[in-house]
Amino acid sequence: MLFDTHAHLDDRAFDCDREALISGLPEKGIALVMNPGCSLESSKNAVALAKKYPFLYAAVGSHPDAADEVDEQVLEEYRLLCREEKVKAIGEIGLDYHYEDIPREIQKKAFRMQMALAQEVGLPVIIHQREALADCLEILGDFPEVKGVFHCFSGSAQTARELTAQGWYVGFTGVLTFKNARKALEAAQAVPRDRIVLETDCPYMAPEPYRGRRNDPGYLYRMAEVLGELLEITPEEAQALTLQNGKRLYGIQ
Ligand code: NI
Repeated sequence: MLFDTHAHLDDRAFDCDREALISGLPEKGIALVMNPGCSLESSKNAVALAKKYPFLYAAVGSHPDAADEVDEQVLEEYRLLCREEKVKAIGEIGLDYHYEDIPREIQKKAFRMQMALAQEVGLPVIIHQREALADCLEILGDFPEVKGVFHCFSGSAQTARELTAQGWYVGFTGVLTFKNARKALEAAQAVPRDRIVLETDCPYMAPEPYRGRRNDPGYLYRMAEVLGELLEITPEEAQALTLQNGKRLYGIQ
């Protein structure tokens, strides 16, 4: 049984068959799914969806691409959503300097505000970090009690070791199955086994041999197969290990 710790099932890519797809996940071996928000609107949709399915959970937050919407009013809406039983994290939040459609200062401000909210409500965070590690670590350093997961981890083995030593989890996607996966595999091998979680980040990044298709949690078994090979355990053991880690990360019984 698998835990997809990062799946955007509220994405419009699932508009045509969302309910059928989600209903069918348990029979594909999916025990739990975390649906993070990307904006206020997507966070509300994620929470509504989570309330409909016992195995689905939600996080609320504005992705760096939506950082310009974050103000006190939006934060207050997130604060209220955090009272919902199925909301288990703040995310996804962070910094993304790859495209920089949103100026860095606005991203940093939104990130800080949402980190402060996580601290206030006592929830873990789901971090999106791209080409902004130094600034990201600087902000995280101001909130030492707040921990969570670096999702879609793309950093070095050294960075993975440092983060997990500080209490962070690292999330790996279908990148693990790609031909050029060396860096991700080295990072996964470098960290303690109780700190690794698996995710699809669907609808993007379908694993091999499904690369290029719409991704969904039903493909997560491929990540467990590759992780199992890497750690020299069975795919079932890799599934069980990452399921337990995900439950501990998000505080799910
Ligand atoms: Ni995401």
